Amino acid sequence: MQIAPSFLSCDFSKMGEELMRMDKAGADLIHLDVMDGHFVPNITFGAPVIKWARPYTKLPFDVHLMISEPHRYIQDFVQAGADIITFHVECDSNIDETISLIEKSGVKPGLVIKPNTPASSVFPYMDRLYMVLVMTVEPGFGGQSFMADMLPKVQELKEYAKNIGKDILIEADGGINENTIKQCSDAGIDICVSGTGVFKADDAALAIDNLKKLCE
Ligand code: DX5
Ligand code: ZN
Repeated sequence: MQIAPSFLSCDFSKMGEELMRMDKAGADLIHLDVMDGHFVPNITFGAPVIKWARPYTKLPFDVHLMISEPHRYIQDFVQAGADIITFHVECDSNIDETISLIEKSGVKPGLVIKPNTPASSVFPYMDRLYMVLVMTVEPGFGGQSFMADMLPKVQELKEYAKNIGKDILIEADGGINENTIKQCSDAGIDICVSGTGVFKADDAALAIDNLKKLCE
């Protein structure tokens, strides 16, 4: 299991140090939650903050766009240093065109599905995706409760990918901690985002280690 601490839960008064702390603690990727106050009822940060954060770690930046019109900002996030860009299948942009913009920039594209969106909504794009992100909370805020009833989507996505001969990563996001990660690994998830579970732990290295051990 790979662990992607969510930057949203860091102490922003020292975000550089926070990233170095995650790097040292054994994180596999850094998950960055971009919210526009329109697609979701919360505003976080945009490309300039990601650009400032970029020099503090070599870990891949997994940028999760919770914004209405991702196609308008892909270049900004590419230039800021994103390695993976995921955006919501429920957004207002043309999905194929947005995937093309990400692909053309040499960044890995992924689609995200909200709790009420079926797994099948991403099937038409699956052959072009590096990752599918399954939300296990309603997007918008950190620190919410895990929705275990989202997990059957993982099997559906994996089966569809297998049928089209595609190797795809499945990521889960929201409410993942030591009490919920085992269910994610049993369901076949490859990458777990954890905000509160890692950043707010007394010892981040121990927290990441524990999360990984619980999946063995
Ligand atoms: C929610 C975000 C998540 C969130 C995870 O909209 O996409 O990445 O920050 O935080 P926790 O692990 O605290 O649920
Ligand atoms: Zn996220």
